[in-house]
Amino acid sequence: MAQDSQDIPSVTPKVALGISGGIAAYKAAEVLRGLQTAGCAVRVAMTKRACEFVQPLTFRALSGAHVIVDDYAPDNPDPIAHITFSQTVDLFLVAPATANIIAKFANGVADDFLTTTYLASNAPVLIAPAMNTTMWHHPATQRNLEVLRSDGVYIIDPDEGEMACGTVGPGRLSQPEKIVAAALEILRSAGGKRTNDLAGEHLLLTVGATREAIDPVRFLSNNSSGRMGFAIAEAASRRGARVTVIAGATAVAAPVNISMIRAYSAEEMYAAVMKHLPEASIFIGAAAVADYRPVQHSLQKIKKTSSSMSLELERTPDILQAVASAEQDKLLVLGFAAETENVLANAREKLQRKSLDAIIANDVTREGVGFDTVTNEVTILSRDSQAPIHVPLIAKTNVADIILDEVVRLRLRVKPFSLSEPGAVATG
Ligand code: CTP
Repeated sequence: MAQDSQDIPSVTPKVALGISGGIAAYKAAEVLRGLQTAGCAVRVAMTKRACEFVQPLTFRALSGAHVIVDDYAPDNPDPIAHITFSQTVDLFLVAPATANIIAKFANGVADDFLTTTYLASNAPVLIAPAMNTTMWHHPATQRNLEVLRSDGVYIIDPDEGEMACGTVGPGRLSQPEKIVAAALEILRSAGGKRTNDLAGEHLLLTVGATREAIDPVRFLSNNSSGRMGFAIAEAASRRGARVTVIAGATAVAAPVNISMIRAYSAEEMYAAVMKHLPEASIFIGAAAVADYRPVQHSLQKIKKTSSSMSLELERTPDILQAVASAEQDKLLVLGFAAETENVLANAREKLQRKSLDAIIANDVTREGVGFDTVTNEVTILSRDSQAPIHVPLIAKTNVADIILDEVVRLRLRVKPFSLSEPGAVATG
């Protein structure tokens, strides 16, 4: 359990702990104590139903502050509590989060203090669901969780085991120490270091799926939506980098504040990347580039004159490999490895063969991972043999920031700019 206060930023982090009405509400006391031991200041809000399981007095005694249940109540000391409470905290944590509170968050319902706080908060949100197994498996709950994931909410899946109601399966609140560790991890990564930490960098990024023409109406392609690449582009731009995206086919809207060049085939993408490479300080190959293309590209639509046909394919240029081989000084080069078996071994082999600084591996056979999903689960392997960083299934927008954290680390440790170089970023 990460209870060392040095794990978190030096300024006392403020956590809003929301408690909704489930049998696991009493475990929130342990979460509160764990956060306090780690150096956090914690304020508590409860739903009315939560108060039927545990008295607010318990949390008032532990936190040393008024517990807000109803901000309209005459004893509430703050007339606009949902704003002051939510907008002055570094993390909004809800443990336990019931199916009902999850449904309300997912749909923007704001009919009590806790749900209004969720809408009014600009802090990262972490929820620890706990409910009966059947309710957890219900498509409505799973749909709502999916919405929250794509909204960037961090979710700690419940544990499996025997429930208070006697059924066995997933639904038990995750262990308090795991919840505290996840909260500290979020506080650490959101603790201010993601502000402008890519200033002075120019990120060149490939995104989406390539299309290799067979004839004027047909092509070979893949399922890549461009979500992961665009999430990286958006996060990098927010963190101060100049961003140029070379995009193949994409299924989602591109972020603003970036410059984007369309290049549909691997050959066009290769040419566009090589043209812009000299200005870049970071390259990330997030596109799903076709490895093969038809040798013949018919200029006319191919007619179905025979009962079968075969396509002869040839290799496309490997853009990532070409960028890494260019050995551009100070250029950080990162690639993806979409794998279906021996994920880490294959990714490590690609990292070495292509001489990359880091590779982001994912097992695309797993649900919610890889192509055309809003979530991803990845492992980042770096060439300076840092231990692999495993990123659990979270929104691609959150994965993007963790990948960029690794870029920042590599910049400082592996290829620092010299302070005298033009366009250099501070390394201290
Ligand atoms: N890539 C690329 N150009 C290609 C093929 C792949 O730039 N012609 C990049 C991708 O953008 C990704 C990385 O290489 O960052 C790995 O892609 P992947 O398809 O997983 O691996 P390959 O190198 O193509 O190897 P294989 O298909 O044999 O697994």
